[in-house]
Order: sequence, then structure tokens, then C-alpha cells
Amino acid sequence: MAGLPYIVGNWKMNGTRAMLNEARAIDRAAARFPKVQVGVAPPATLLYRVRDAVELIGVGGQDCHAKDSGAFTGDVSAPMLKDAGADFTIVGHSERREYHGESDADVKAKAEAALSAGLAVILCVGETESQRDAGDAEAVVGAQLEGSCPKADGAPEKLSVAYEPVWAIGTGRVPSIEDVAAMHASIRGKLVELYGEGGGEVRILYGGSVKAENAAELLAVPEVGGALVGGASLTAESFLAIVGAA
Ligand code: G3P
Repeated sequence: MAGLPYIVGNWKMNGTRAMLNEARAIDRAAARFPKVQVGVAPPATLLYRVRDAVELIGVGGQDCHAKDSGAFTGDVSAPMLKDAGADFTIVGHSERREYHGESDADVKAKAEAALSAGLAVILCVGETESQRDAGDAEAVVGAQLEGSCPKADGAPEKLSVAYEPVWAIGTGRVPSIEDVAAMHASIRGKLVELYGEGGGEVRILYGGSVKAENAAELLAVPEVGGALVGGASLTAESFLAIVGAA
């Protein structure tokens, strides 16, 4: 797997201007960790300001529309994210899939729009608890990848995949190390199937209740190329403890 470990904070719907201090603190500290690639995805309202406040870390959106512009009240397009200074965007987060009814085809169209706008993409996949209990986790994630992996220019070079089991998000529960290893190996197999050799280079992040206490162990799993962090990314102190563990 190519590249440095990639640790990304997804602030979700959290953050006002007061959070800019956290972004500055993360950016200053990033200089101490040259062997880690760090990014944050603030809410769209803060994107431009975070971009202005930092120098070393990447800045990204949490979602984008599949169209570049038009009558889509409340939405933000990939070229708009790019214009605001984004380097990447997350697409297909389970909260988007669940609360906004996004299908694999929607996620694929968003990922392709983002790549076309020159953004890198973090594409999220993950099974629910009942799907895991039924023994279907790998099949579900495999089908999500088949349906949502972009085919535009820039894929797979500018693509990362984040495996986020839905039941581990914000719950304090994490899969066993064996289950993380098995799922990441299965995702790697699917990426190679979809992209050939290039699929072997895509970074696969783990997300779901990553904290300073479990980060080193999770990041040591083969095929875990980084972490997508929610709650623990909301203060510089807790986020940097994870960056330090990488
Ligand atoms: O995208 C990150 C995320 O869904 C994980 O959230 O709060 O469990 O780290 P959290």
C-alpha cells in the first residue's frame, strides 16, 4: 500500500469559528509528524476559514453534490469545495446513506464529480450490525464498492476508501483486530478486481470509535493505511494523540 499513514478528522455537523483554534493547533503540531499525512473535514461553513488558518494539513468537504451547479437548494458542489480551498472530499458516509437516502449510484456520481473537480476522494463503506450478525459484512461492503467506486479520471490514484462499520460509529465499540484485518483484506481484493494493479495502491482507512487508546493497534493491522476519526477529532489534543500513534 502506498503513501504515509493518513489520519483524517471528520468534524461532521460540529464547529463554529471557535474551532479554528483547534485547526491551528493541529496544523502547528503536524510539523512534528512529517511521516503522517493529516487532514480535517470541517463543516462547509468553515472550510474557507480553516483553509486560511492552516498550512500543512489537508482540508476537505464532508459531501458534495453530483452536479457542478444548479437549482439544488442547500447543496454544495465539488467545484465549490475546490474553490473554497478543499483538497479532498468525503463521499458516501453512512450518515449520508442513512439520513439522506444516498444509494451506491449516488455515491459513485458524487465521487466522479469530485475527481473531475480535481479533489481527492475518501469513499466510505461499512455494514450495519444486523448485516454483520447475519455473516454478510464482506458481501455488503463488496457490493457497496462495486456500486460506488468511481471510474472517472483520477481513480484510483486519488481515491481512498474508509471502512466504517455503522455499528462502531460513535458507539465506543470497535470490531476485533481479526475482523478489521479480514475486512481490509477483502476490500483490497475487491479494489484490485475493480482497478487492477492500481487497486493495490488505494489507501484503506478504518473509521469507527478510533481513539488514542486503540489507534496504534488498529493502525498496525495489515492493509489499514490510516483512520477516519469523528468524535476524537473535535479537539486538537485528542486528535493529535491519534496522529502521534500513527
Ligand atoms: O467519519 C468518521 C466517523 O463516522 C467515525 O466517528 O465518532 O466513531 O470516530 P467516531
